[in-house]
Amino acid sequence: MIAVQSIHPSSYYQPSIFEQEQRNVFEKNWIFAGFKDQVINNNDYITVQIGTTPVVIQNFKGEINALLNICSHRKAKLKTASHGNSPLVCPYHCWSYKKNGDLAGIPQNKTDFGLDEQAKKSLALRRFELAICGNLMFVRIIKQQESLEAFLGPYFALLQHVSTEFTDPVQEGNYLWQTNWKIACETVLEVYHVAGIHPETFAKFAKAECDIEHFNGHSTGHTPLQDTPKQWWKKARKLLKLTQNETYTEYNHFFIYPNLAIGLTNGSLMSLQTYEPLAPCQSRLNFHLRMMRRTDGTHSSDVIKAAVQLNFTQFNHTILEEDRVVAESCQSNMPLTDTPGLLGKCEDRIKHFHTAWRQDMTHITEGK
Ligand code: FES
Ligand SMILES: [Fe+2]
Repeated sequence: MIAVQSIHPSSYYQPSIFEQEQRNVFEKNWIFAGFKDQVINNNDYITVQIGTTPVVIQNFKGEINALLNICSHRKAKLKTASHGNSPLVCPYHCWSYKKNGDLAGIPQNKTDFGLDEQAKKSLALRRFELAICGNLMFVRIIKQQESLEAFLGPYFALLQHVSTEFTDPVQEGNYLWQTNWKIACETVLEVYHVAGIHPETFAKFAKAECDIEHFNGHSTGHTPLQDTPKQWWKKARKLLKLTQNETYTEYNHFFIYPNLAIGLTNGSLMSLQTYEPLAPCQSRLNFHLRMMRRTDGTHSSDVIKAAVQLNFTQFNHTILEEDRVVAESCQSNMPLTDTPGLLGKCEDRIKHFHTAWRQDMTHITEGK
């Protein structure tokens, strides 16, 4: 037999497994947290949830740090928005924090709290490891030996290149899927389903063949584009004065374990997605669409972008909806069966994903 077994159906819905993977998969690995250019100015911040840990990533006069997004006073969220620009001050009673998480100020400290320097120090926010690859920021909640460079292996240079080429933001958003986060990831790790699920969309866009490479749980799928989208993008590039990435000119898809996916179309458009676990049977798919740099170094005008966007963002939406429906169908059937599914050779990227997941899940859980 060439095929291999998928992970057990219960892995997709059992609360105990979900809890364990929050820690072993999400808190112990480097997780993509956002683009560096989202926090380019002093006091710019973004917020993200990694495993069970809410994190704020903020620019403090040029230094970017990742800190626990929970106030030490009475546990309010320090930043409630997904992004913004303001100093790190709690909205509840205005305790303020320094770049390393230490307390900067406590209103009425002398008269009402009496906290000396040592007591203040013990109330510092937890600070997390943050590493940068090109324009991408990764955060790790539980300290480990492995550097981001070692974790990504050959994908470090690749992401560095890609993330600094596709810099023009077009659209971002999210979808709520009633599926486990792993099922959501699996929808983008093979093109075997294209004939069945996307006959009118993806099938007309790319050929259902895939050249696979991998490094640990990370993998690549190179899929040749059909002629029509190539012609469309050629015209769009001319209209938008876009450069074309010379290395990746087909549909080139990269998966960075455990939950980051990057799809490149004809060296012109990057679709970056993360699959965020919300509950055992619920995940949020966050997406960012970015185009290649313009030939003159500026960003395209909003009017021109909007016209072109209409075409490809709708296309993106339709494909995602087709995937969501079938993913939710698989999810709803997982508790009704005890037999693991099968993965064919064409689904090898899922096999690599599962191997890394199995390895993480068998690690002994140590103290936080
Ligand atoms: S909860 Fe943050 S200052 Fe009170
Ligand atoms: Fe799909």
